[in-house]
Amino acid sequence: MASDDAVRATNDDAAQCKRFAVEKGYWQDPFITLLTQRSQNKHAPEISRGYYARVMAMRTLLQKFIKMTDGNCQVVNLGAGFDTTYWLFKSNGIKAKSFVEMDFPTVTSKKCFFIRKGEALLNAIASDEEDIQISKSEIHGQDYHLVSANLRDIKEVERKLHDCHLDKSLPTVFIAECVLVYIDSDKTKVLLNWITENFTSALFLNYEQVNMQDKFGEVMIENLKQRDCSLPGVSACASLQAQKIRFTDTGWEAADGMEMTNIYKSLPHADVHRVEKLEFMDERELLDQLFSHYCIVWAWKDPNNIGLGSIDLT
Ligand SMILES: C[S@@+](CC[C@H](N)C(=O)[O-])C[C@H]1O[C@@H](n2cnc3c(N)ncnc32)[C@H](O)[C@@H]1O
Repeated sequence: MASDDAVRATNDDAAQCKRFAVEKGYWQDPFITLLTQRSQNKHAPEISRGYYARVMAMRTLLQKFIKMTDGNCQVVNLGAGFDTTYWLFKSNGIKAKSFVEMDFPTVTSKKCFFIRKGEALLNAIASDEEDIQISKSEIHGQDYHLVSANLRDIKEVERKLHDCHLDKSLPTVFIAECVLVYIDSDKTKVLLNWITENFTSALFLNYEQVNMQDKFGEVMIENLKQRDCSLPGVSACASLQAQKIRFTDTGWEAADGMEMTNIYKSLPHADVHRVEKLEFMDERELLDQLFSHYCIVWAWKDPNNIGLGSIDLT
């Protein structure tokens, strides 16, 4: 099993990479600076471009879902870390009935601390103290919930989502960005199954590694091992097909997905052109390798035909 401390530390890395990219001008996010300190390290342009593509694509899919449901929906971000999408969307008038973020208590208590300290973060959740309950590691507001749970423990996940008063008949999107790979595949199956058994209409957006059975994958696994961080869920990252099958095997109606190489090509060209001028990149090869080892897979369950199967990146 991966050391949970090492897994939790991956969130600090992700948040610092995002802050670095935002400060370079890849995309705008006034909230990330309230959640993480400036990185001591310089990050390679390939890394920032990778984050840019991931952030843009995940937000596009999420926005399409919220628009399709007219905001009558719920968002559950599993292993959310220091994600800022709730604040970014709300400040742009994009709202869901409920936005839930779940992570290990060590991560959620740090996030709680930053939210208390960062006025703009707290005010977005509630302008009145009576509308919000904050404990050391959890927050319950009108439309925002931050809860701690181990995703490997389905009973705990169930209990914590129950505390958020979710309506299981309302369309709900589950998001996992670089999370499931740290969880044993059997436990992920239990989680994915539980969602389809309990929610009437659901969408899952999963950003994760793919094509991990080659040399590049081997090196990535070895590097993480050196940091005491193993990838017990990597078997589902063998190919795009394997990524999709894990959803169709756990009660999801269908799944689709794209490698980041193709997703990057599908992003709005004018913005990609702007971003490509931000930093000089020595070798395009490393970026191509990175893009071919990450993907986004989306899976849906849509018995009422609200159109979840038509959500994509075109
Ligand atoms: C690489 S970080 C990604 C954070 C965020 N999703 C993002 O994209 O910026 C992985 C996150 O998953 C969380 N995580 C991994 N395994 C988990 C588990 N079993 N239970 C709860 N959270 C978990 C970690 O604590 C960490 O915050």
